[in-house]
This record gives sequence, structure tokens and C-alpha cells, in this order.
Amino acid sequence: MTSLLHQIEQLRSAFIQELQKASHTKDLENLKVKYLGKKGPVQSLMLELKHSPSEERPHLGKLINDLKEELVSHCDNSLACFKEQEMRQRFEKERLDPALPGRENFLGRSHPVIQALEKAVDILIGMGFSVRLGPNLDTDYYNFEGLNFSPDHPAREMQDTFYVSTDWLLRTHTSNVQVHTMEETKPPVRVVAPGRCFRNETISARSHVFFHQIEGFYVDRHVTFADLLATMDEFWKKLLGEEVETRFRPSYFPFTEPGLEVDVRCTSCKGAGCRLCKHTGWLEVCGAGMIHPIVLKKGGFDPEIYSGYAWGMGIERLTILQHKIPDIRYFTQNDMRFLRQFS
Ligand code: DAH
Repeated sequence: MTSLLHQIEQLRSAFIQELQKASHTKDLENLKVKYLGKKGPVQSLMLELKHSPSEERPHLGKLINDLKEELVSHCDNSLACFKEQEMRQRFEKERLDPALPGRENFLGRSHPVIQALEKAVDILIGMGFSVRLGPNLDTDYYNFEGLNFSPDHPAREMQDTFYVSTDWLLRTHTSNVQVHTMEETKPPVRVVAPGRCFRNETISARSHVFFHQIEGFYVDRHVTFADLLATMDEFWKKLLGEEVETRFRPSYFPFTEPGLEVDVRCTSCKGAGCRLCKHTGWLEVCGAGMIHPIVLKKGGFDPEIYSGYAWGMGIERLTILQHKIPDIRYFTQNDMRFLRQFS
């Protein structure tokens, strides 16, 4: 009797020890099979019962049955605990908090300069102009010579040029497209040429080494100065609003005769005077003029028959004026806080 009692006690403590090491529901299932399975130690004790004296059997049998029930209940309790714990961990992991703000999905959008450029080009397409793109890398002829800048023309110095060789350069303005277009087509031409330009300037809040321009020009029989003024007036109204007023001042460009500077009534103070317009009430927005007869002639258009007008405007400057941006360098810094403001 003592030996069976002893075995019962040993089994109980061995089981408890193993139970304490269990860390998973799987461990408990294994433990249950190990101790309570058909070939397990509890079953062996039952078999051994046969060899004990018959008067002790009922008592010992009860003890073994109690042990069996005890082990089963230990296993079941721990299993329930583990299951609950594992469930809780899973819930914690997969928990959905409906109060959390949604993740923002950032959509790409075009750069503010490109937005302004596309808006202006769209308006001009609507006015009958077609788009032509000129080369960024061009020869001195297309950028200067063909536009009536003689080799020693002082106006060349107005535009600090990036030369890549004695003859090749990065275009300083989109006016080079005038020369290419005249060489390749016959009048009438009504072209708008957007694109990038380059100048060897010190980078500051107001100037950069590259920027964008839109060039527009129209050549046909009987194109007059009045056509230029009317086109400018209509274009700037369409771009900035019907209430916008335009003003024309004489200016000089080698490729125009006469040349003009176009101003619009300050969009910020409506003419009262503010910092944006330097208290003049006007914003300078583009250069323009009647195409010089020499330029037409060099391009193969007979100036006795044809005449034309042209203008060129800086898009960064336009965007700066429209959005009151204090520094041109913002456009090239790729700071998302700046760029995301222009949807
Ligand atoms: N190309 C000039 C510049 O970059 C702008 C310009 C002035 C273009 C007068 C024109 C024009 O077509 O007629 O400053």
C-alpha cells in the first residue's frame, strides 16, 4: 500500500512541476496525453491496483481516481486560462480602433510652376496658338544671332549665358523657338513655346540659374501693333481675371521693333500700392513687341509681306506674384510642406 501511495504522490508532484513549465496550450495538450493517455502512468497505477491486497483496493482505487480527476481538472483549468490569454493577445494585435484617424493617402500633383505654365498654355491654345517645344541646348545662332543680337551686341551681356562650347549654349530664353519655327515652317504661324531657360546668375530669393518661360508669337500678313495689344489684354484677363487692367511701356529688345514691357494692375492691392508691386500699383509681367524685320528676314519670312508680334514671360515670376511666394528657391527645394499647398 505504501508503495502505491508513494507512487501517487510522486506522480502528482511530477505533474505539477511539468504543469508549471507549460507556456502554451500545445504544452498542456501534450501533458494531458503524457499523464492521462492509455499508456500513461495513471493508467499503469490502475493496472498495478490488481496486485494490491483486495481489502485495500477500494481505498487505493479511489485515490487513483481522485488523482486522475485532479490532473484532468488542472489541465482543463490551465488550458482555459491559456486560451483566454492567447485570445486576448490576438485581439490586442488585431484590435481595430474606430476612433483612429485614417491614414492619409497622398496623391501626387503637378508642381506649382507647371500648374501655372499649363494654365497659361491652355488659354493660349484656346486663342488659336499651337504648342512647339524648342531645344534647351542650342547654338549661339538660334539664341542670339538669329534674333538680331550681333556678336558684340551689348544686350548679350544682359543675359549671362552658360556656354558649353564656343558655339553651343543653354538657351537663355524661349525666344530661340521663334528662329527654329520660322526656319521650319511658312506663315501664318501662331505658336506658343513653353520651356526651361538657363542663366548664369547668382542664386538668390529673386533669381535662379534655371526657370521657365512661355514665348508666344504670331506672324501673318497684316499683323499689327493693335493685334499685339489686344492679344495681351485678352490673355492677361483670361489668366488673372476679367477685372485685370494692362499697361504698356516702351522697352528695348534687339528682336523687336518697337519693344514693350507689359504691366498688369497689381493683383494684390488692386493698384493702391503695396510691397508686392513696390508701391507702384503695377506688376511687370512680360516683354513683348513687333518682331523686328531683320529677325523675320533671317528666318526666311519676307518682311515686306509679313509682320508679327511676340512676347515672352517668366513663369516662376508669375507664380510668385499669384501666390505671393517670398523666395524663388522654394520652387526647387522639394519641400513637401511647400509643394502640398498647391492642389
Ligand atoms: N526673351 C525675352 C527675355 O527673356 C523676353 C521677350 C521680350 C520675348 C520681348 C519676346 C519679346 O518675344 O518680344 O527677357
